[in-house]
Amino acid sequence: MDRPCLPHGRSQEVKQLMSYDPGEWSESLRKEYLLVIEGFFTVPLPLFSTTYRRAIKARTKVAEALSLIVRERRKEYERGAKKNDMLAALLAGDDKFSDEQIVDFLVALLVAGYETTSTIMTLAVKFLTETPLALAQLKEEHEGIRAKKSESEALQWSDYKSMPFTQCVVNETLRVANIISGVFRRAMTDINIKGYTIPKGWRVFASFRAVHLDHNQFKDARTFNPWRWQSNSGISCPGHVFTPFGGGPRLCPGYELARVELSVFLHHLVTRFSWEPAEEDKLVFFPTTRTQKRYPINVRRRNRSFS
Ligand code: HEM
Repeated sequence: MDRPCLPHGRSQEVKQLMSYDPGEWSESLRKEYLLVIEGFFTVPLPLFSTTYRRAIKARTKVAEALSLIVRERRKEYERGAKKNDMLAALLAGDDKFSDEQIVDFLVALLVAGYETTSTIMTLAVKFLTETPLALAQLKEEHEGIRAKKSESEALQWSDYKSMPFTQCVVNETLRVANIISGVFRRAMTDINIKGYTIPKGWRVFASFRAVHLDHNQFKDARTFNPWRWQSNSGISCPGHVFTPFGGGPRLCPGYELARVELSVFLHHLVTRFSWEPAEEDKLVFFPTTRTQKRYPINVRRRNRSFS
């Protein structure tokens, strides 16, 4: 089997997990990782699907590359070196995870946390571009926050908590174009729902999209309308009909992080840049929710007269 050809270097998402900066190493890792993602939503039939076969190979390469780092870091840890990142926490934890368990966890986090958030950012930009009134209101909210700060001052948690319209935009983006269209569950016992029985052991697909785009739940459900969330508290989900992050014991552990990331991204985007679409693009729902061409835009730096 090929050795992972991942020279030393660095990346944003890998940095957060393992203290690596963007560079050649992480760029090679990213390429393999994208192949993993491509295969993620294909039918798992290795004999028929090249994408699936490629993804399995790429997953092995990603795991091997991460294993090398984990091994190196374990040695450093045993020599007493201290680092302040997720890998350090996993190595130091009371659970005594094996290298294999740690690698599996890191791959799972990359898959669960990267594509989801970056796609939702792209979709938010597309919806805002197509809804100029929403974009104007969003800019106003963020310019208000920026006006109270010096040019280089970072956002604080209290700033994040004072972005009510941004939270409406986040909710509405997740509603109209939920990246995870639903979740599988297995019935642990016979379940009766509205006169139907789901027998024990059956697998069920709970479709979020069917609910999020249901006109009985959301008026003009296919229209991007962030203002519909203003009648709610803004930041939280209205109960069981809005579940972009799943629910119950398997609720997405990254749900607040994803919301913060999107809000902070929008803050910097609308206060520093203006943009226009570089090409026509459209929303597709299969095999995953995304824009067909990843919504390329031409970006210009703005004059920040308000700060
Ligand atoms: C817009 C961004 C995101 C969306 C829409 C999303 C959505 C989801 C959904 C629907 C699930 C399944 C929940 C269930 O089975 O009930 C899930 C699971 C998970 N998510 Fe996210 N997620 C996002 C971002 C993130 C981020 C940023 C991370 C971590 C950095 C993350 C980590 C995970 C993990 C580890 C699981 C598996 C949890 C388990 O099986 O117990 N997600 N996510």
